[in-house]
Amino acid sequence: MYNSRIIGMGKYLPDNVVTNDDLAKLMDTSDEWITERTGIKERRHIVKGSDDTPATMGHKAALIALERAGLQPKDIDLILFATLSPDYYFPGSGVLVQKLLGIPACPAMDIRMQCSGFIYGISTADQFIKTGMYKNVLVIGSENHSGGLDFTTRGRGVSVIFGDGAGAAVLTREEDNTRGILSTHLYSEGEHAEELSLIGPSTQRWVPEIIAANDPDDISYYPYMNGQTVFKHAVVRFSEVINEGLQKNNWEAADIDLFVPHQANLRIAQFIQKKFRLGDDQVYNNIMRYGNTTAASIPIALTEAWEEGKVKEGDKVVLAAFGSGFTWGSALMVW
Ligand code: ACO
Repeated sequence: MYNSRIIGMGKYLPDNVVTNDDLAKLMDTSDEWITERTGIKERRHIVKGSDDTPATMGHKAALIALERAGLQPKDIDLILFATLSPDYYFPGSGVLVQKLLGIPACPAMDIRMQCSGFIYGISTADQFIKTGMYKNVLVIGSENHSGGLDFTTRGRGVSVIFGDGAGAAVLTREEDNTRGILSTHLYSEGEHAEELSLIGPSTQRWVPEIIAANDPDDISYYPYMNGQTVFKHAVVRFSEVINEGLQKNNWEAADIDLFVPHQANLRIAQFIQKKFRLGDDQVYNNIMRYGNTTAASIPIALTEAWEEGKVKEGDKVVLAAFGSGFTWGSALMVW
């Protein structure tokens, strides 16, 4: 059995910076409320009419990751594309990235695990590489949230949190089994599927039905989040799945060189940091600048941490996520 190892990371954020004060011009909110509850100061929104889509942003992040990995698109054996906001209802965005990369034929699979999508992606990549079926796997997380949020006061509990962007990682075969991804731990609990969901346009609520109903109170085409329930489950599941990974690898929290949590909410990340008694230099957060970019948040944060020299060869790195589904997971690796 082989290990797999990340050998290149990239990110892409739209240029358009939207501050809390900008949002306060659209709805009844304030910089103070958003900062205190979420830690977010600004996020990026795709400008309508621009070329940015989940696939094109993922493609740009992927080109950087490939260059840093020293690989060409033709070297990629499998594309995994994690998103909750695909370009189209179908087909998935993975095939669009494949087209943009100019890869004539390779498997390109979308992963629908929301905030945990990148962890599910690298776990899936790891399994394919471990068995020897594939050598080089491209994992992308990319989201366009801003196009589908309610920027009136009615939607303020959700719309202030989310931002757009993409991150990508190239994983390759590693023959030294003390390096690379050591373990991944994945969970879902469908009992809470509707607590953080978008059920409007779907096979339960077909678009023609929504239009025919012509109900001004029907806002099922906007995301719904039961914030307090999400918060309560998130802190428990993050802790469990990090602990499971530490135990599996005989690591203590103090051994962690860098913990990169899904950037859901700074308060959740700080709760976990305190619980595991991690120092500020052991945790990387950038939700202040980008908001919650769901499947893109971990690859964007990990790329940025690497660019800032905070992830070095031999470092013990822990990734963990929790989100809609509910889904959660962790990944432990030696860089
Ligand atoms: N600005 C001003 N006031 C607001 C805003 C806003 N943007 N949003 C909600 N409020 C108001 C509400 O209307 C409510 O007013 P009321 O008391 O008059 O009814 C009041 O603030 C409190 O609302 P709550 O929803 O109870 O606020 P809460 O303290 O729970 O904070 C938050 C909301 C930040 C979403 C919190 O529940 C939370 O952090 N939950 C975790 C969810 C999360 O992190 N989600 C991220 C996405 S999911 C993921 O990635 C895991």
